[in-house]
Amino acid sequence: MSRPSADPAAALRPRLPSPLQEVRDARFDRHGVRLLLKRDDLAHPEIPGNKWRKLVPNLRAAAAEGRGTLVTFGGAYSNHLRATAAAARLLGLRAVGIVRGHELAGRPLNPSLARCAADGMRLSFVDRATYRRKGEPGVVADLLAGLGLASGDVYVVPEGGSNALAVHGCAELGRELERELPAAVGTVAVACGTGGTLAGLGAGRRALGFPVLKGDFLEGEVRGLQRAAFGGPAGDWRLDGRFHCGGFARTTGELDAFAEEFEDRHGLPVERLYVAKMLYGLGVLAREGAFAPGTAVAAVVTGPPEPGAAHGA
Ligand SMILES: Cc1ncc(COP(=O)(O)O)c(C=O)c1O
Repeated sequence: MSRPSADPAAALRPRLPSPLQEVRDARFDRHGVRLLLKRDDLAHPEIPGNKWRKLVPNLRAAAAEGRGTLVTFGGAYSNHLRATAAAARLLGLRAVGIVRGHELAGRPLNPSLARCAADGMRLSFVDRATYRRKGEPGVVADLLAGLGLASGDVYVVPEGGSNALAVHGCAELGRELERELPAAVGTVAVACGTGGTLAGLGAGRRALGFPVLKGDFLEGEVRGLQRAAFGGPAGDWRLDGRFHCGGFARTTGELDAFAEEFEDRHGLPVERLYVAKMLYGLGVLAREGAFAPGTAVAAVVTGPPEPGAAHGA
């Protein structure tokens, strides 16, 4: 294993700025609204979308501190765990994934975790009660000690990769959009899990977040992340919480039909846990007249479909 590369972003050779693609879609056309897709899913083949935006500032910090082991957290289908595993492999770092669900330890790995393991990530399964307490320094220290890791070599990235550095990385996405969007774009939309992407994106321009989890905790989370990153509230953002479709990884017949039709029509694989819900929500908002005729909406495609997904390319 080598020490972290001094400039991980350069070593990983991203495709940035990511492409901006206009799609003609009757759901928007009939209301005089243009739909632009910010194809951040194409920014890097293995560290796509908001994973790139959030991880790179953390990889830079790990390099600056001379840490050779990335430790992070996620559920069994976490896009973030996969991206961290890939980044570690590409940069010659060690990676440890703390996975929610002790019961998974004895089972065959699902395609997402199998990809992490193939990239060399060491997986450690913990019970849900411990996992919930992963924000407590003492709990993390115990987990690291249990894994025999020397804390001086470890760089801890939080669940979903969302911390103050990640928010700054996502603010760069906002600046990139600012440089390339036509003036007609009123709203930039993004799907939200932990809220880190919206906290950065929304700091510089008007942004609309679509939570994919149930509950009304997210506004507080985004505020907290903005406080950590910028010292206080920033920008002009809001959430529309109507499109979680039952909660994380839940779906409805209408959402599935929408995503399949969108894929067929535009030849674009649609990630189902986040991106589909945002695009579906935007279609409903267009129907409700939320966007003035003659304006455009930009939707951030934050990632590609997960490995093993039955749909998409
Ligand atoms: C594809 C995709 N889109 C959006 C999000 C939500 O990002 P955040 O957790 O920053 O709200 C995630 C989760 O990290 C994701 O994997």
